Amino acid sequence: MTDVSQNAEGHDAPKREHWGSKLGVILAVAGSAVGLGNFLRFPGQAVNNGGGAFMVPYIISFLILGIPICWCEWTMGRLGGRFGQNNGPGVMYSLWRRGPAKAIGAMTLFIPVVVYMYYVFIEAWCLYYAYHFFKGTFAATFASAVEGIDPANQGEVVDAVVGASGAFFGNAVSSEKNGGILSSGSMLWMVLICFVVNFAIIYRGVTRGIETFCKIAMPLLIGCAVIILIRALTLDGISKGLGFMWNPDWAALKNPQVWLAASGQIFFTLSVGFGLILCYSSYLRENDDVVLTSLSASSTNEFCEVVLGGMIVVPTAFLFLGASAASQGTFGLGFVTMPSIMYFMPGGNFFGGMWFGLLFLAAVTSSLSMLQPAIAFLEDGFGLRRSGSVLMLGVITAIGALGPLYYTRKLIGLDHTDFWCNFMMIIAATCQVLLFGWIIGAERGCREMNRGADFNVPRFMPVMIRWITPGFLIVILGSWAYMNAPGYLRGMSPTIQGSQAARSVYAGAIGDHFSDEGLSEEMLGVRVDEIVGASADPESLPGWLEDRRVEADAARTVAEEDASVARSVFILLAIFYLSLLVLSDIACRNRIGKTIAKAEAAGVALGD
Ligand code: TRP
Repeated sequence: MTDVSQNAEGHDAPKREHWGSKLGVILAVAGSAVGLGNFLRFPGQAVNNGGGAFMVPYIISFLILGIPICWCEWTMGRLGGRFGQNNGPGVMYSLWRRGPAKAIGAMTLFIPVVVYMYYVFIEAWCLYYAYHFFKGTFAATFASAVEGIDPANQGEVVDAVVGASGAFFGNAVSSEKNGGILSSGSMLWMVLICFVVNFAIIYRGVTRGIETFCKIAMPLLIGCAVIILIRALTLDGISKGLGFMWNPDWAALKNPQVWLAASGQIFFTLSVGFGLILCYSSYLRENDDVVLTSLSASSTNEFCEVVLGGMIVVPTAFLFLGASAASQGTFGLGFVTMPSIMYFMPGGNFFGGMWFGLLFLAAVTSSLSMLQPAIAFLEDGFGLRRSGSVLMLGVITAIGALGPLYYTRKLIGLDHTDFWCNFMMIIAATCQVLLFGWIIGAERGCREMNRGADFNVPRFMPVMIRWITPGFLIVILGSWAYMNAPGYLRGMSPTIQGSQAARSVYAGAIGDHFSDEGLSEEMLGVRVDEIVGASADPESLPGWLEDRRVEADAARTVAEEDASVARSVFILLAIFYLSLLVLSDIACRNRIGKTIAKAEAAGVALGD
């Protein structure tokens, strides 16, 4: 490798890279931000949380969370770069020479890498879908599904197509059975291809790999999306679909869940606050602008999200399939509804392939950003060469991805990994803003932000960063944990999950048995408790219920298994985080600490 030079101590150290051009940085960061979150997650969130009214908390979150955190993170990354650090722990440690900085640093490695472990799987779905659209598998599947149905019977045709699409998805990702992916083969190939593509680009480095790829992929994917948008907007009657998506339901604003959904979406889509911006911006030069550059990347993301993401999926789904198909969750909308639409849309096979192709590109530009922080850490922190760091991270992520890949029943591995990452994201963002506002100092930090800037940030920024943004974050963290964590914690208990599953089998049978009494929900509950007991594991059952025992026990076993998968996910993630913490500590004490000291000796300082 040519990018290795001798440093003062005589051992090999990778030479620091810089972005090639301003457009390149903007596209790379926008590439990280524009991903599945824009095209799949956003429409699902908006349509289920008040339609047009969702934009109110969304824009507020963008202004209070998105922009300020983004500016802080860019500034910190650029500062860290001056201390020779491109990795989260190193950047944090050069700004704050205390233990907790290493813990925050470990989060900025943990989140991207762990998100990669399941995101790559969804990336592979996109590739798989694109392939099967171009190959004609979808056309054939739908054609055989509607065989024998009278085309005039619109409702039945829709049901058949959506049903076939759902079955295709269940089969492709093996959502009924654990381990299905490993034996089916073809999806596994897609995952493998995704791994190879990602790591090959990462291997080429920040400028020659990430920047070059994003410079091609971003215009390409936006171009494809614009073409599909034009196709969608020229469909007859599309205004009804747009109305369905965007008519505001103002009452939704009274619901705290809607606010949480909006701020969660802002985090995920901008991917700010948890390490990749820290890494990407550390490749800037010390007088490169951060204010306008970051704003341009964020605006590109918002364009892709609100305009391209917001006007394609849901409006066309409503037009062709009706309200119920249009208001599914993320995966339902993306991988069941969207392919079904293509059956009805003129030129659907082509547009379907193009759509999933662009999703794949969007996913790759995002997943690259999940890998680079850890690569930089292995290189800066332990002096690994590019080949070593790529190999090592490849092995780690491949092992980690086995969880979501194997435990696909109800996508439980993926779902729980995602949940704990989201939790960690809010914590990491909060820590970073607090560090910026209180340790570096908001005023000093904002002066640094303005250095080399194309325009200065508003004068109220320090107050925002010190008080308003962290205040808002803490409220979100609290309410989010309060509303969601109990459910996920219960989901990790085999006993609770097992009894619940068995109980609901019995409850169904008991409800049928006493159906002529017209029991209320509550009365039925009391009756079920009397007959099967609280744990739904009775010694003896009335004769008419006895033959449901096998079914109930089977349901119990499945639910227990799922719960212990969920629990293992949690435990493994905790162990992984702790290991990163240890590594981060070792690196900061040794190599990172030395590089920082050397930079300080050469006159680099935090500024005044
Ligand atoms: N912003 C990306 C999207 O909208 C997702 C993403 C990219 C991400 N990098 C990340 C999420 C790092 C978590 C961590 O799809």
